[in-house]
Amino acid sequence: MNEGAEKQTAGVPLDMLGELRRTHTCGELRAADAGVRALLMGWVHRRRDLGGVIFIHLRDREGVTQAVFHADADAAVHDKAEMLRSEYVAAVEGTVKLRTPETVNPTIATGEVEVVAEKIWILNDCRVPPFPMEESVDVDEEVRLKHRYIDLRRPHMQRNIMLRSRISFAVREVLTAEGFLEIETPFMTRSTPEGARDYLVPSRVQPGSFYALPQSPQIFKQLLMVSGFEKYFQIVRCFRDEDLRADRQPEFTQVDLEMSFPQQERIFEVIEPLIVRACAVAGFEVSAPFPRLTYRQAMRSYGVDKPDRRLPPFHCVEDLFAGTPLVSAGLLLVAIHIPKTGALSRSQRDELRAQGGKLGLRVYDDLKRLERDFAGPMAEVRARAGAAEEDLLVLAGWAGEQPPRRPEETVLAACGQLRLAVAQAYADRHGLLKPTDFQFLWVVDFPMFEWDEEEQRWMAAHHPFTSPHDDDLELLTGDPARCRAKSYDLVLNGVELGSGSIRIHRRDVQARVFDALGFSREEARRRFGFLLDALEFGAPPHGGIALGLDRLVMILAGENSIRDVIPFPKTAKGTDLMCDAPAPVPEKQLKELGVAFRKRP
Ligand code: AMO
Repeated sequence: MNEGAEKQTAGVPLDMLGELRRTHTCGELRAADAGVRALLMGWVHRRRDLGGVIFIHLRDREGVTQAVFHADADAAVHDKAEMLRSEYVAAVEGTVKLRTPETVNPTIATGEVEVVAEKIWILNDCRVPPFPMEESVDVDEEVRLKHRYIDLRRPHMQRNIMLRSRISFAVREVLTAEGFLEIETPFMTRSTPEGARDYLVPSRVQPGSFYALPQSPQIFKQLLMVSGFEKYFQIVRCFRDEDLRADRQPEFTQVDLEMSFPQQERIFEVIEPLIVRACAVAGFEVSAPFPRLTYRQAMRSYGVDKPDRRLPPFHCVEDLFAGTPLVSAGLLLVAIHIPKTGALSRSQRDELRAQGGKLGLRVYDDLKRLERDFAGPMAEVRARAGAAEEDLLVLAGWAGEQPPRRPEETVLAACGQLRLAVAQAYADRHGLLKPTDFQFLWVVDFPMFEWDEEEQRWMAAHHPFTSPHDDDLELLTGDPARCRAKSYDLVLNGVELGSGSIRIHRRDVQARVFDALGFSREEARRRFGFLLDALEFGAPPHGGIALGLDRLVMILAGENSIRDVIPFPKTAKGTDLMCDAPAPVPEKQLKELGVAFRKRP
C-alpha cells in the first residue's frame, strides 16, 4: 500500500505532548464556563473551513466541543488549524465563549459555547479513515470489525462500551454490599459440561494432554461453597465452541454467582435489585419483584420457555370449538392475541397463512368471518384474551392429517413462533415490542431432563449438578420425563438473560442423577471424581445463577447484536477479523506441543 497516498495532508509537523494537560473533557463545557480558559485534547471529528474562520469539532469519549480559529486573530494558529483533517489528534487551548443564540447547537451538550482557540498542537495525523465517524453512516460489519479500533471510536460504540463498564461496576458494588466475595477461578482446566463443545489448549509439558477452557466456572464455584466462602461472584469470561447467533459469542462474559444455604427465592432477592440497579445505570426504571411463571405455564401460554411478555399470552380454546371443523380430535386450538393490529388486509392474511403453513399450522385469520360464524365462542375467546375491539385475534391449529409426535408441545411451540412473527411484522407500526419496555420474568420448575433423539438418552436440561425437586426424587429413575428441577431462568423480552439452579449437595443424589443421565460409575468418576469427593466432605446446600452480561448490556444499550457491546468480538464464523485469529501456527510450535493434524474424515 502506498502510505504517502493515504496521507490526508503531507508533511504535517507534529508536536510533543510534553507537559500539556487537559483542563476539561470535550463533553464538559457549558454556558456557565464562559470566560474560562480551557485546554482540550481529542480527535478532529468534523472540520469546516470558511476561509478566514475554521471550525473544528474536537471529540473525546465524553463528547464534542467546537473550537474556532480566526485568521485575523492569529494567522499562524489559523494556518496550523488548516492542516487538520478527519481524526487527527490535537490539543487546543483558548477561552470559552458563549455562542450567539442563532449559532447554538442543540444536538451537542456543549452546544451553547465554543472555545476561541489561541494555541494548537497537532499530536498526530491520521490516514484516511476506512469509514466516517458519523453515527448516521451505515458501515458494513466486516469493515467495522477489521478496523475495530476505529469503529470503537464512533460515539455509539463508545457509549455502549462505557455503559458496559458502568454496569460491571454497579454489579460489583451491589454484590460486594451483599457480602459476596469476588474470587477468580482457572481458565486452564477440565471440561465443564454446559452443553457446548470445549476449546482445548494442548499442554507442552504433558504431550497428548489438553486443558479445556471453561464453558462456565460451574464446578469451581460449587467447590468454593464446599470451601466455606458462602457467597462468591465473578464477572468472568466463558468459552463455548457452538454455533453462533446474534446473541451468542464463543467467548462471552457471565456475572456468575453462588451462595450457600439459599432457597430459590433467596437467589431472586439478590438478583432483582442487581438488575434494577443495572437498568438505573442505563437510565431505565424497572420495578421488582419480577413475575414468576412455571416452565409449564410458560409453554402453555407462550409456547416457549423464554416468553416475550411485551405481548399478551395466547389461550388454548379448543374447548370452545369442540365439534367444529376448526378442531382436530385431541389437538389444541390456540387463540393468538396481538394488540392494536386490527383486522388484516387480504395480502397480510395470505402472508400469515403462509407463515403458519411453514410451521405446520392451519391459521384462521378472517376475524370478521370467525365472529360471524362462531359468535358465541369468539365472544368467549375475546373475554379470555381480554382483547379490545382494535386487537387482532387469530386461531391456529395443527394443519397435518396426522397429529405430530408430541402434539401439545409441537402445536404450542409453533404458535409461539407465529405469535412473535406476527407481532414483529406489525411491531413498528403499532408500537408493539418497544425495546425500552423491559418485561423481566422468572421461569421456574424446568424439567430435570430433556430427551436427546440423536443419542437416545436423557440429557440434563440445565446441567448435571442441578438438584431435582424435593418431591420428585423418586421420579429420577421412575419417570424422568416428569421430574422437575430446582432450576430457573431470568428472561427479558424473549431473551434468556440468566440461568441457575439449586445444586445437588449430597453425594448419593448426585450419583443417582449421573445414573439417570446414563453416566457409568467409571465415567462419572473419571470426569467429576473430584466433585463427587468434595460432596463427601461436608458440602453445604448451595445454589446460584449466571447472567449473560453481554446480553444484558445489549438490551439496555438498545442493540440487536451482542457484538455491538463487546469491544473485540468474533464473527459468526468465530473469526477475529482484525488480528486474523484463529490462525495456523508454525510447525515448530506444533512439534513442541506434540500436536499433529489428520485430515477430517
Ligand atoms: P448457562 O449455560 O445457561 O448457565 O449460561 C448462563 C447465561 O450465560 C449467557 N450465555 C451466553 N452469552 C453469550 N454467548 C454465549 N455463547 C452464551 N452462552 C450462555 C446467557 C445464559 O443465560 N453454569 C450455569 C449457570 C448456573 O447454573 O449458575 C451456566 O453457565 O445469558
